[in-house]
Amino acid sequence: MHKFFTTVVIAAATLVGTSQYAFAETKVGLLLPRSGTYAVLGKEIEAGFNLAVEQADRTGEFKIFNEDTEIKPQVGLAKARKLVLENEVDVIVGIVSSGVLGAIRDFMHNAKVPLIVANAGNNEATGKSCSPYITRVSFSSNQLNRPIGKWMFDKGIRKVYTLAPDYVAGHQMIDGFTDAFTRAGGEVVGREFTPFGKTKDFGPYLAKAKAAKPDAIFVFYAGGEAISFVKQYGSFGLSKELPLYSSGFLTSPLYVKAEGDAAIGIVASLHYVPTLDTPENKEFVEAFIAKEGRSPSEYAVQGYDAAKLLMGAADAGANDRASLAEQLPKVKYVSPRGPVEIDLATNNIIQNVYVYDTVTNGGELTQKILDTLEAVQDAPNGCTM
Ligand code: PHB
Repeated sequence: MHKFFTTVVIAAATLVGTSQYAFAETKVGLLLPRSGTYAVLGKEIEAGFNLAVEQADRTGEFKIFNEDTEIKPQVGLAKARKLVLENEVDVIVGIVSSGVLGAIRDFMHNAKVPLIVANAGNNEATGKSCSPYITRVSFSSNQLNRPIGKWMFDKGIRKVYTLAPDYVAGHQMIDGFTDAFTRAGGEVVGREFTPFGKTKDFGPYLAKAKAAKPDAIFVFYAGGEAISFVKQYGSFGLSKELPLYSSGFLTSPLYVKAEGDAAIGIVASLHYVPTLDTPENKEFVEAFIAKEGRSPSEYAVQGYDAAKLLMGAADAGANDRASLAEQLPKVKYVSPRGPVEIDLATNNIIQNVYVYDTVTNGGELTQKILDTLEAVQDAPNGCTM
């Protein structure tokens, strides 16, 4: 009897201590674009998230509520409110657009509901608007664009013209690049911001860029806009006179195939490429290909790592919104993108940034790493937790 009692107590203590049982079911709001120029990014983040949960055999542990931000800040905010107030989710995962992230930040902070940012790079979310409820597993705009500004100057580029969509991410990506490039001694000879999600014809912008006679152009475009931009750049035959550099999303493995040969030779900086030669990445790429039939992109890794953090926090005993918020940034794990760590001063991820070139290999477009900038950590940018 006594032995039986002891066994039951130990078993019960083990169950309590093992996080899988901490929540009967964790309610997760997946708040992603399902329509518009970034719809494909949302789908990819979800694919990565699901892969991590399936690999861990923990699908029964999460109840998922899906909402579409339509990449519109006010729609994103309405959907975040719905997820928190009606569905009573424990955590929200997702957010592709920096505009949507800016719009929901105060609501998440005041509602004290943890948010795992799986894409949007808005500097302020881990800078002056940081919050103990916001943990970012993707990147910040400064983190990705400052390194390539210095890198380009070091390669001898002196005059650059910039282009990006006219919304908060476009401005922040270009500002981060410009700051590092001009501090190094370079000059930005002109810039333009194109209507976001609406620009079909980049011809006039490319003509203006060419007329400014820079050594190169630097751009940020993603999703559908990246495909149109690269194809048009290719059709104007500008690669010799106007070499193209970018924030790495321009030639993301997610849509580089749709861009075709025009993507060859574009140099870009990004926190993940599927050609990374590490055991963790090889395993991830193999599993992703087995499930999706194609190589993963940075967006897939961001969704994958968001799920890893969520499961890690549960393993550490998180069993309500407050304890999840506390545990999420503390989860330690090696990502397919390389060593990562959440900076506890800002809750932004610290990670390598890869400068890569798009090349062909056996007729397939692939990524060749030119340089690795290790453990890039964004400045606190006014964050006081
Ligand atoms: C953003 O809005 O922050 C954003 C969107 C798409 C990307 C990267 C950043 O690929």
